[in-house]
Amino acid sequence: MRPPMDDAPVFPGDRKGLFITLEGVEGSGKTTQIPRLAEFLESRGLECVRTREPGGTAIGARLRAVLLDPASKGMDSLCELLLYEADRIQHAAEVILPNLSAGRAVVCDRFYDATTVYQGYARGLPLSRIQDLHGWLFSGLSPDLTLVFDLPAEVGLGRARARLSGHGVFCQTRFGEGRFGEGLVGEGWSEGRFETEKIQFHEKVRAGYLSLAQAEPSRFVVLDASGSLREVEVRMTAAVARFLDARNPLPKKAGE
Ligand code: TMP
Repeated sequence: MRPPMDDAPVFPGDRKGLFITLEGVEGSGKTTQIPRLAEFLESRGLECVRTREPGGTAIGARLRAVLLDPASKGMDSLCELLLYEADRIQHAAEVILPNLSAGRAVVCDRFYDATTVYQGYARGLPLSRIQDLHGWLFSGLSPDLTLVFDLPAEVGLGRARARLSGHGVFCQTRFGEGRFGEGLVGEGWSEGRFETEKIQFHEKVRAGYLSLAQAEPSRFVVLDASGSLREVEVRMTAAVARFLDARNPLPKKAGE
């Protein structure tokens, strides 16, 4: 049982590790880049944990299934907001905080900026309420670095739809997750709940991320997510290398 909280951070902690979050519109390619980012961080001597929202815990996987199920189309937007926060609280308690406290690098595929952008900027819930909620719940867990994979919404959606139509990549179905053709994509399968939103929704998502990045340039890096996987990887690792070097400057040599 959690002790009474007053104004203390819900997830306080001695954060020895590094918290990096990846954000972007559907089909921006961030998920594909995560193993490459982990490999890069490990090459710089950091022990790395990869995780995601929603669904980074066993409880979260069940919430993810409800949240992304096309049959949840009628979900009230406040219910949606609080389910994402519920997933995040469990994830923070079970995965993010313990690993940061142990000094690891936690690489997380989406975090609270996704809620600010999807439920706030795009869905239209009041931004100030969402920010208050995040201030209360996650003030002790602000990411050290947030990479926004930026792409015109229609390009990203085109990629996401190609993926969902069965190009052998992981996809979300109302039956769970699997590869197309593994028996999970069955009768009645259609696009995920967010892929079916109108293009205007996704344009608001993109604009929301760009506004957040502009408001907090010390935390965000906006990456051009167009081009080949390799081109995006090179941009990403260059940005992370700059961040790490600024955080831990090499000791100056005598005379410098
Ligand atoms: P994913 O496609 O990156 O795995 O994310 C799952 C979907 O959930 C994606 O469409 C974005 C959406 N989402 C929100 O709407 N709010 C949130 O807080 C998070 C984490 C994801």
